[in-house]
Amino acid sequence: MAERLLYEGKAKKVFTTDEEGVLLHRFKDDATAFNAKKRGSWAGKGRANAAISAAVFEYLEANGIPTHFIERVDETTLKTRRLEMLPVEVIVRNVAAGSLARLIGYEEGTELKAPIVELCYKDDALGDPMLNWYHFRELGVSDADLEFCEELGLRVNGLLWPFFDERGIVLVDFKIEVGRDAGGTLMLADEISPDTCRFWDKTSGEKLDKDRFRRDLGGVEEAYEDMLRRVTG
Ligand code: TMP
Repeated sequence: MAERLLYEGKAKKVFTTDEEGVLLHRFKDDATAFNAKKRGSWAGKGRANAAISAAVFEYLEANGIPTHFIERVDETTLKTRRLEMLPVEVIVRNVAAGSLARLIGYEEGTELKAPIVELCYKDDALGDPMLNWYHFRELGVSDADLEFCEELGLRVNGLLWPFFDERGIVLVDFKIEVGRDAGGTLMLADEISPDTCRFWDKTSGEKLDKDRFRRDLGGVEEAYEDMLRRVTG
């Protein structure tokens, strides 16, 4: 199958193939943080993120969530539907951490009364700022699309919370992205992995996600392997 590089991101390469409307997402071993000011790489990261994403997308699809996922074609590669992406990052939070803890002055680890949804504008040059609906309207994102993003985020959260709870993990927060296929259908896209979620061990509180890299906590490779075992094992 002829592959043509369409786009190279910080942690993935995206290829077109001979198949119309189909893409390959190849997960790299590279990691960045703080808008690529910090860079790293470790063996097995791409494999772990591809396998975790594939398992999570399969679970969500089986529970009625439309996703871009078609199949995992090798250790680091997922076949997906080609979408037009919305310039939106949807963050859903169950426990205060990271930028929310700073934003509202909560201690990290404070349980939220109800899940909080945030919409961020996907623009590296601006640092992916959190915007409100008025800003998004100005930027040409429709209310209907924003409503879909918020509802999808909450539905995904409702499914992923028990999925990870059964595996001994608190789903602290996560980020998803949304795109539209050629027929106009909106669906979940991108990835769901330790790069895009905060996973805390339910008993020890140990961080099993990219915060180990962001915050130089060590043991990042082991944490991703642990999450891979819990999700696919
Ligand atoms: P934050 O607390 O730093 O805003 O992160 C919230 C969630 O979003 C967390 O699970 C990590 C994820 N995230 C991404 O996937 N990409 C990003 O660029 C950032 C800043 C966060």
